[in-house]
Amino acid sequence: MLKKNYTNIDGMLHIGGLSVEYLRKKYGTPLYIYDQKLIKDTARAFRENFKSDIFASEVSFASKAGSNLYLLGLIKNEGLFLDTVSIGEMYIGMKAGFEPKKIHLHGNNKTKEELVFAIENKIGTIIIDSYEEFLFLEEILKEMDEKMDCLLRINPDVKTSTHKYIQTSNADSKFGINIRDEKIESYIKEMAQSQFVNLLGFHAHIGSQVMEVGFFEEEAKILFDFTKKMQDLTDQSFSHLNLGGGFGVRQNKNDKDFDLEKFLRDFAKIIEEKIKDYKLKITRVGIEPGRSMINQAGTTIYSVGSVKHTLEGLPLVFVDGGMSDNIRPSLYGAKYDALIANRLDDKNYEKFRVGGKFCESGDILIEETDLPYPKRGDILAIENTGAYSLAMSSNYNKLPKPTVVFVEDGKDYLAVKRETLDDLIKNDCEYKGE
Ligand code: LLP
Repeated sequence: MLKKNYTNIDGMLHIGGLSVEYLRKKYGTPLYIYDQKLIKDTARAFRENFKSDIFASEVSFASKAGSNLYLLGLIKNEGLFLDTVSIGEMYIGMKAGFEPKKIHLHGNNKTKEELVFAIENKIGTIIIDSYEEFLFLEEILKEMDEKMDCLLRINPDVKTSTHKYIQTSNADSKFGINIRDEKIESYIKEMAQSQFVNLLGFHAHIGSQVMEVGFFEEEAKILFDFTKKMQDLTDQSFSHLNLGGGFGVRQNKNDKDFDLEKFLRDFAKIIEEKIKDYKLKITRVGIEPGRSMINQAGTTIYSVGSVKHTLEGLPLVFVDGGMSDNIRPSLYGAKYDALIANRLDDKNYEKFRVGGKFCESGDILIEETDLPYPKRGDILAIENTGAYSLAMSSNYNKLPKPTVVFVEDGKDYLAVKRETLDDLIKNDCEYKGE
């Protein structure tokens, strides 16, 4: 079982052996704190449980969930691959030390600049998103006299029950080619014969924060059926399959658990059976976890400001951050829990809302949570914020982006410095009075 390195010492939350008070003093708030040991344990859990004697497993970290040099350096050290969706993500991945062949490129509308960058830097695989993109890529490869290993992204039409914005497998989805598209066979026949695109197999990703394992099993079954059909159609055997990411996490105390290690073991077994049943020549199977790799390791701490009682609704406890460091509650209605991290033993709970400091009514981080009555200067911690909050952070209302620190065994490691006021204008050009 993967465990957070949280302890309560005299009512003070400690993460990785360090008190949040110490971390606040050293780095200020808001502060993203990552439990480094938990990320290492999670990466190892992926490697050790998603494995097989009959296929090579390829676990790629989906860097859209979080990408900075420190985090990616740590992930690289754990021997994982990297999933990217832009020139920026490829660039950071390489700067963090990933061998280009362990990086693959996704995207529903890759630009020429991105494709050329991927080809020139010998990125491992490009995942083609549409027939039109195949033609575009082929033309570029021809011009450059290069070949590229590719997968084709299929939309397997699995209806997940996650938030609409993070479903990717509906008939109107912008990703991949729908498995029911009547032209799909002719497309694949043509791709399989290309001299420039080396079509290794297929890819699918059904959505994000998917809590029911049954959807992944359905996806795998559909993809294997499809690969077998395409193998017969093209007379070519496909060696790769990538089943994407999307594995759910327990975000708040009302969520059910997602037993990641068991799921990975069961998933690998199902895949093995399918490969055997269909007598496929698939030798490599990939998955692309983003959220499940880093979410539980992240905690955001804030300093409490005022508490306001409105005429209606729960009292609001205001913190010194909000929607610019975590847009997920406003965008997806994501639900988190909070702690008063310097008074863990105070159990006189009342119900509060947690509001940010942004000029926006929708800037509510938590609609309802139980807290001891917060006082100015208390430390409010929100758990399970490791994925996508930092990655989607902004400078709205011109707040500098917070510091990111990793902690392990009583040591803290600065990963990203807090932005300064000058950083806020570093790319701005002054009006010269014309
Ligand atoms: N592979 C592909 C092709 C994807 O599109 C995604 C996520 C992943 C892997 C990783 O999925 P994960 O394991 O992290 O669920 N901003 C949203 C999530 C967007 C996910 C987009 N694609 C959020 O904050 O919930």
